[in-house]
Amino acid sequence: MRPAPESPDSLHPLLAGRFSPSRFDPSAAVDDRTLGLLLEAARWAPSAGNSQPWGFFTARPGEPDHARLVPHLAPSSARWATDAGLLVVTLTRRYVGDPEIQYSEFADYDLGQAIAHMTVQAQAMGLSAHQFRAFDLDALTKELDPSPGWAIVSTVAVGKAAGEAPAGRLRRSVADLLAAPWTEAE
Ligand SMILES: Cc1cc2nc3c(=O)[nH]c(=O)nc-3n(C[C@H](O)[C@H](O)[C@H](O)COP(=O)(O)O)c2cc1C
Repeated sequence: MRPAPESPDSLHPLLAGRFSPSRFDPSAAVDDRTLGLLLEAARWAPSAGNSQPWGFFTARPGEPDHARLVPHLAPSSARWATDAGLLVVTLTRRYVGDPEIQYSEFADYDLGQAIAHMTVQAQAMGLSAHQFRAFDLDALTKELDPSPGWAIVSTVAVGKAAGEAPAGRLRRSVADLLAAPWTEAE
């Protein structure tokens, strides 16, 4: 049985209202409590075997770490990410070092889920998140120098959106989500 098509407006407002802003309000700071709650949301995400293979580097405008991070953003993301009240570099640990699970094939999946939790928590606090990969991975890895086994995956800009969600955001249909894995490519 195929479910009847639904409107995104019927979703929970935290999901229906989420979008990745391409402009942030530079005057909206992210305070310590807000930062703590964003990390707490990530902390409580589920993960394979409870391996929790995530790690973060956070930086807010005016902090020395912000100045370390910003030069490594690509021009396409620097345009808006530098105005966000918070940047979060996300890292994964694929070799989790647990005697039960040496290597987690789910490490990146789990990190993504932790960031989804962080994103929803941001939304609940009136903030928005824009995840991005537009930065110089090699240069940022050299700059931050994570411990062996840790790999930078993405960065998240979190802050107050300046402006509304753009019109015409597109998604594949639910029917396609269900059929595509079994459909021959053209
Ligand atoms: C892992 C990941 C990497 C992304 N990289 C970029 C990026 O480099 N630049 C950018 O503008 N958006 C980036 N995005 C944002 C997506 O383009 C955006 O989520 C998608 O177009 C859907 O739009 P929405 O979030 O507003 O629904 C990234 C998102 C994810 C999850």
